[in-house]
Amino acid sequence: MMTFANTLDCAAALDQQDPLLKYRDAFMHPIENNRERTYFLGNSLGLQPKKTMDSIQQVLKQWQQDGVESFFKGDDNWLAYHRKLTNPLAAITGALPHEITVMNQLTVNIHLMMVSFYRPEGRRKKILIESKAFPSDQYAVSSFVRHMGFNPDEIVVEINPDAEGVPPTNRQVIDAIHQYGNDLAMVFLGGVNYYTGQLFDLHSIATASREVGAVVGFDLAHAVGNVKLNLHDWDVDFACWCSYKYLNGGPGAIAGAFIHEKHHLSEINRLEGWWGVKQDERFLMKRNFISSGDATSWQLSTSPILLFACLHASLQIFEDAGWNNLLSKQQKMIEWTDFLLASIPNNVFKRITPQLRGCQISLQFQKNGKEVYKRLFDQGFMIDWREPDVIRFAPVPLYNSYTEIWHFFNSLREITNELTLND
Ligand SMILES: Cc1ncc(COP(=O)(O)O)c(C=O)c1O
Repeated sequence: MMTFANTLDCAAALDQQDPLLKYRDAFMHPIENNRERTYFLGNSLGLQPKKTMDSIQQVLKQWQQDGVESFFKGDDNWLAYHRKLTNPLAAITGALPHEITVMNQLTVNIHLMMVSFYRPEGRRKKILIESKAFPSDQYAVSSFVRHMGFNPDEIVVEINPDAEGVPPTNRQVIDAIHQYGNDLAMVFLGGVNYYTGQLFDLHSIATASREVGAVVGFDLAHAVGNVKLNLHDWDVDFACWCSYKYLNGGPGAIAGAFIHEKHHLSEINRLEGWWGVKQDERFLMKRNFISSGDATSWQLSTSPILLFACLHASLQIFEDAGWNNLLSKQQKMIEWTDFLLASIPNNVFKRITPQLRGCQISLQFQKNGKEVYKRLFDQGFMIDWREPDVIRFAPVPLYNSYTEIWHFFNSLREITNELTLND
């Protein structure tokens, strides 16, 4: 194992030893005034793979040449396109391919999963979520509960950060699950918190949920393509994610959902549409819904092939690079980031990201935060500012280098030194 030094030479040596560095070139990096910017916003919108254009053009060409026949014609027929996505996604999420469906958008899929998995019975009605969950999750859960005729104030119970704003620990989540016990119908949490970057130990949360008899589901928007997941073996009931962050599927990309195979043939309630019908029966236009028998039976409408093409371009890079290789690089990048962060005197900001995390790190500023953010941005670092006082920064193993991370911390140190001295 290499010992780190806080020097550009060390960063360059790390890059030199990195077998995945070449994938940086598989992406379009933003440019301003002829200068490449350093992109640390994979937690928001992943970069565009260079192959995306070709992938879309291939579909446009099929449409041009064969019209609707493209759904059925050749090895690249559109009916089979779904499988090109489910196989790599299964590897990334630790699922079986038939437990994955690629459909809709994230918030829509949360609603569809609520239809299937929120099954209040007797006193078992409550849903446990984080009070600092992404707002769309809160809206989806509360509005769904209202739709069921219940009062969200009585049904939705929240896990809060402590008085200093420190996120709940995994232990506190598990304790809350046991505390609500027989009153709990569902646990629905973000795998990685969008604001703090905190990663929960999803396996232990799934186990605790099962112990008390609650259904467990995760919003993996910030986890998929970012951290190791093992949804099938962890016995998670369902999960959903968007594909525009670490999966680089493009703005408004086609989202994904995992539904554990144990539910596929059960009597579960499900909203249905013709695209969920078994493929060889779909075009027989029968009166009755004949389920595809797997996660795709949750799909309602015709597959948006152009969106599939965008996601496919990115997933091919994941497959080529190897998911486990990417996770190893990410681990090293986390160590590098933690090492460089520790070298900055910590009197201007507080790291609010716990040790267990993926790519993202969030720094909370007591003062001058917006000014630090602006100066970093002006120096070419694309990071983001979250009101009221947080900078989020996410170096991604697929397209960031150790040198870029070094430059970022070097600039951050210079800027914070200057602002502290000038105060
Ligand atoms: C954790 C989380 N949940 C839900 C959403 C909403 O996703 P969508 O707009 O794709 O429905 C986002 C969007 O960034 C998110 O980060």
